[in-house]
Amino acid sequence: MKLIADLERGLAEREAAGLLRVRRSVASPQGARVTVDGRRLVNFASNDYLGLANHPQVIAAARDGAERWGAGAGASHLVCGHTAAHAALEAELAAWAGPCAGAQALTFGSGYLANLAILTALAGRGDAIFADRLNHACLNDGALLSRADFVRYPHGDLAHLRLRLEASSAKRKLIATDAVFSMDGDLAPLPGLLALADEFDAWLVVDDAHGFGVLGAGRGSVAHFGLASERIVCMGTLGKAAGVAGAFVAAHPMVIATLVQTARTYVFTTAAPPLLSEALLASLALIRDDCARRDRLAALIARFRERMRDQPWKLLPSTTPIQPLVVGANADALALSAALWQRGFWVPAIRPPTVPAGTARLRITLSAAHAAPDVDALAAALAELAPATARAGER
Ligand SMILES: Cc1ncc(COP(=O)(O)O)c(C=O)c1O
Repeated sequence: MKLIADLERGLAEREAAGLLRVRRSVASPQGARVTVDGRRLVNFASNDYLGLANHPQVIAAARDGAERWGAGAGASHLVCGHTAAHAALEAELAAWAGPCAGAQALTFGSGYLANLAILTALAGRGDAIFADRLNHACLNDGALLSRADFVRYPHGDLAHLRLRLEASSAKRKLIATDAVFSMDGDLAPLPGLLALADEFDAWLVVDDAHGFGVLGAGRGSVAHFGLASERIVCMGTLGKAAGVAGAFVAAHPMVIATLVQTARTYVFTTAAPPLLSEALLASLALIRDDCARRDRLAALIARFRERMRDQPWKLLPSTTPIQPLVVGANADALALSAALWQRGFWVPAIRPPTVPAGTARLRITLSAAHAAPDVDALAAALAELAPATARAGER
């Protein structure tokens, strides 16, 4: 059939360009080591930055939550799926990560859905969304779905953004940025962005998928920079440092009330199982109280960067658990990732369209679950592999 043949050709083209993505079935819980194909691999691929995805207290809360609430929510939040567990989690998140006095929070099934909700609720035709060029795909998708003008500014370039804001005659303006860039690990210049948002009366949407739980003593990137504003709309994900699933938006109560009424990815979807809210309440308590995890993570990041200092491979400048090593060509990134796999390390190769063409990379992620010898061993393996792969890149 021609329809199938077209798909086959498309997939073959993808493979030839080194862009085919494959899934691996993991046979163990997340952790510093995971089992794949019967092998134990040191896991440098996960966003479980604090090692909470398999924490006994989080597991116990999920188990108790299942006993208390059953397995499923049964319906959307606005029908009969909103439970006291969801409400308790939202209250805790608002108090912990709210970007202004009196902030409220709203939970979503995922960060992807939360970003679609924010951008479509706060911008529409005749408005303009200003977005960092390296933002995550779901901020871009939300911007496109909103039908607002979509203006992308060069990565972190406040001067360029100012010019674009000055030139805009949009009714409402919204600046959207990753707080920690997911494939680069660097931080957005949030203080400068907030100053521009103030000057041009714009919303500032902060996607803190990779900062929540890690930065700002766990409160996230807005707290890290000591910022507070009614114009900040903060999105945090709960499947990364928090170790479970879902996401939240924390913002002024009018923003939250608007999302409840209008956000299609909130209104027209089944609520997450309440047992996950119970697990997240346990995880949030650990994020708040177990500061040693963040200290351990910071020490591992410093140690890894130190071990990599004299290598031909250069890490991007990042102080976060995301430590990218840019390789360049797709095939070279895949080869390096495969060579590490052979040596017992799981480090994913990230290729376009996730990153710009020609900047394929290893996305090395560190976790409080790792031990110092894990990062030493990875650095040693990279040192061993660097010359051979670098030569391959020159051909
Ligand atoms: C910056 C950023 N925003 C949003 C998301 C989406 O979050 P979720 O996985 O909860 O859908 C991700 C990653 O998945 C991300 O890296």
